[in-house]
Parts: sequence; structure tokens; C-alpha cells
Amino acid sequence: MPDRRPIGVFDSGVGGLTVARALLDLLPDERLVYFGDTARGPYGPRSLDEVRGYVDELVAWLARADAKLVVAACNTATAAALEPGDGPSFDAPVPVVGVIRPAVATAARATRSGRVGVIGTAATIASRSYEHAFGEIAADAEVFPQACPAFVSFVEEGRTTDPGVLARVREELAPLIAAEVDTLILGCTHYPLLTGVLSYVLGPDVLLISSAEETARRVVSQLIDDDLLADRRVGDHRFVTSGDADGFRGLAMRFLGPRLAAVDVEQPWRELASS
Ligand code: DGL
Repeated sequence: MPDRRPIGVFDSGVGGLTVARALLDLLPDERLVYFGDTARGPYGPRSLDEVRGYVDELVAWLARADAKLVVAACNTATAAALEPGDGPSFDAPVPVVGVIRPAVATAARATRSGRVGVIGTAATIASRSYEHAFGEIAADAEVFPQACPAFVSFVEEGRTTDPGVLARVREELAPLIAAEVDTLILGCTHYPLLTGVLSYVLGPDVLLISSAEETARRVVSQLIDDDLLADRRVGDHRFVTSGDADGFRGLAMRFLGPRLAAVDVEQPWRELASS
């Protein structure tokens, strides 16, 4: 029996749209319900406990929106609530897929030197979730974590290539260049939008692994294994933000293109966000 319920996707803002886009490419028959928690984002500077509470609420909201599976399209949320590896730290009403393990598995297979860089938000890097996941998947890899807090704001401001961005990227990646990593995990779903400058600064010999694409492939496998695939899309994709709808729509149109159907602002989320 095909399952035509939507896939739920959430992030602190527009970054998770990189995952949404990868899902739309691989699964054109599926419908998405996307929640960008822009009123409370960015999550990176917040405590893991605080983010864990948001994840709990967002998964419950998406389950009420009839999601058959939820993708935590945010490394910070995954680090807070789904790692280390022993499943969600809350009672999930639907299966939840995170973004950390799929990227680690791919990086572990791809690296030639065993020296892997990971860039992410302050909270993700402080959680040491990537080191933990590598410890379980590829214990011999040497991991070089680097927090790059400014990158999320650049993306949320729609800045992806200007000279200020380039200068900051050079500065933040200097330790990873010095460490001679040959593989870099983009450990924040906002970062694939900066791929142009990141690969310009690192050069062609460093392989960039986007958690967005790896996660989309993981979702395809899970839908097939759990017999949850839809046979055709019924209805429009839905994009919801807890914050300013116009701001979200503008950025989302830029990053996702015309596939964006409508952006609603859910009033209860505004109330939650300001409490
Ligand atoms: N895109 C998110 C991540 O993957 C969150 C960034 C943030 O909210 O700070 O970590």
C-alpha cells in the first residue's frame, strides 16, 4: 500500500531547505511539510537542553500535521536530541532521521588520509557528537572539528559569495587547511549554500560532504525498508515558519526556487517563541 502522508522536515530556519531540496530531487512523488523555526533560531548559540525542548515540540507538531517520518534537517537539533546514537532523547511519535550519521558514514568511506574536518555551529561542535559518531563508525579516522558561527548568519542574510564572506571563510578554515584534511563534512545544513566559497578556499583536493544529500539518501532507504513510499504526490508542499513569513519566503524562494508553494505563519508558534 503506498503511503501518501507527507514527510516532515524541520530546521531552525532556512538551512534545512538544503535537505528539503535534496529530498525533492530524489523523491518527486513525496509531499513535504517544512517547519523553519526562525523565531527561535539560530539554534547554534543556544544550550543543547533548550534545543532538545524545541525538537520535542517540532516533532510533535509535524506528527500532528500527519508526517509519516520526520527529518531533523539541522545538525544542532540532531546533536541535541538524537545523538549519541541511542535514539531520540524524547518519545518520538513518528520515526525521526537525523543528519549526523549519514554524513559520517560517507566521510569515513571517502577519506584517503583518514583526516576529516567537520564544521558546524558552536553547539554542534561543543556537543562532540561528530567525534562520538566517528568513534562508532570509523574509530581510526582523525577528526578536526571547527565551529564557524558566522556562517549561519551569512546564509540567513542571503550572503553566499561577497568579499566579507570570503574573508571569514578563509579565517575559519585556516586551522583545517593547516591540519591537511582531505575531506570536510558540512556539519550544518546552512553550509551547503556556501559550497562555492568553501571549495574555492579549500581547493579541489578536499572533498566536501553535505549532510543534506547524504541524509536524503538515508531517507529514501528508510522509506523503502519501512514500506512508506508514496506512489504520487497529493497536494502542495507546505512551508511553515514560526517567524516573519515574508522574510522566510524571500530567502526560501532564493534557495529552493519556484517549488515553494506557500508560507504560513502559525500563530501558536509565535506565542511559544516569545515565551
Ligand atoms: N542549520 C542548523 C544546523 O544544521 C542550525 C543552525 C543554527 O540554527 O544555528 O546546525
